[in-house]
Amino acid sequence: MVATQVRTLADKLRLDFPILYQEVNGKPLVYLDNAATSQKPLAVLGAIQHYYRSDNANVHRGVHTLSSRATDAYEGARDKVAAFVNSNSRQEIIFTRNATEAINLVAYAWGQTTLKPGDEIILSVMEHHSNLVPWQIVAQRTGAVLKFVELTDTQEFDLSQFRSLISDKTKLVSVVHVSNTLGCINPVEEIVAIAHNHGAKVLIDACQSAPHLLLDVQTIDCDWLVASGHKMCAPTGIGFLYGKLDLLRSMPPFLGGGEMIVDVFLDHSTYADLPNRFEAGTPAIGEAIALGTAVEYLTNIGMDKIHAYEQELTAHLFHRLAEIPELTILGPQPKADGSGRAALASFTAGEVHPHDLSTILDGEGIAIRSGHHCTQPLHRILDISSSARASLYFYNTREEIDVFVKELKEAIAFFG
Ligand code: ALA
Repeated sequence: MVATQVRTLADKLRLDFPILYQEVNGKPLVYLDNAATSQKPLAVLGAIQHYYRSDNANVHRGVHTLSSRATDAYEGARDKVAAFVNSNSRQEIIFTRNATEAINLVAYAWGQTTLKPGDEIILSVMEHHSNLVPWQIVAQRTGAVLKFVELTDTQEFDLSQFRSLISDKTKLVSVVHVSNTLGCINPVEEIVAIAHNHGAKVLIDACQSAPHLLLDVQTIDCDWLVASGHKMCAPTGIGFLYGKLDLLRSMPPFLGGGEMIVDVFLDHSTYADLPNRFEAGTPAIGEAIALGTAVEYLTNIGMDKIHAYEQELTAHLFHRLAEIPELTILGPQPKADGSGRAALASFTAGEVHPHDLSTILDGEGIAIRSGHHCTQPLHRILDISSSARASLYFYNTREEIDVFVKELKEAIAFFG
């Protein structure tokens, strides 16, 4: 009998990512920095090239054929993103430069105009700088007060402390869905339900969940959700804000200029309806179209399949990392089947500096991240200045994890 080899998701899809087929420092590239940015499949590269080769024109402005094609493709991308997060309406999707800009949009257009002295904003200590700094600015300008959800013993979101922190003074809860450093998956549906019971709005930072999990904004019931395209197979320079229709409609504009108006007079203007009201100026047209292609690509694979395969990789990664006694891994342990956390591991290795580990591994063709991963306050709380992080995506393989662990062991032995 001929044995049939089981083909993994990565076996089937790696060919879509030509960048993975190269040598770095004389070794086959092992790309494990996906939480920083993902690689782009041929379909996305093709969408960008097609737009600039065939359809390049400004959107919403011209009646000529290229402008109509560009507009159709750009607005078609909005439909795809709306379907990807199961939004009720395409008007609820605003294209932004990235998730940071989407959070700033809410901070400026809603936070600075709504919050009053003494109002409370709840964040968690694991937030990315992009979900901390805009709210610090809002708090400084409005007199609102920042409160923080701490970590449990297993370094996860402390839901019971959150319950004791929230009150009718809370006007906003803004939290990350999946931590880019701890890898924990936060109970966003429960967080939203608790917050809404107190009349607070909720923003979810989905940068590390949108690429990996099936998202449903109606089930989560969040008021806003943000994500960055480049972490989910799309180019840089494009992200999106989802917001509930009535809430977005109630918010004043963020940036003023072309595209976001109906009538402009010398001394005042009237503003366009959603989504244009929040898309001032010429948008990142090709990038938005490519984001549409990226979410279509992910949907065609199946977010459930991506998630299931990444769980297998997580189980293998943690099983192999457990062979290295010098490591302290941040965040919760996965269950035996790899569930219960994201497919990434941030770690320290005794006295060995994460930058040194990363440099040695780069010499072996392995790309991991080292530093504070834009979560400086979290690193301070954990009493470390930096960590190393390996983060996976569906095109990674068990063999790549094995190469990484082998070289990590050698690097630690070298410094040890
Ligand atoms: N926020 C990105 C990361 O976690 C850049 O690496």
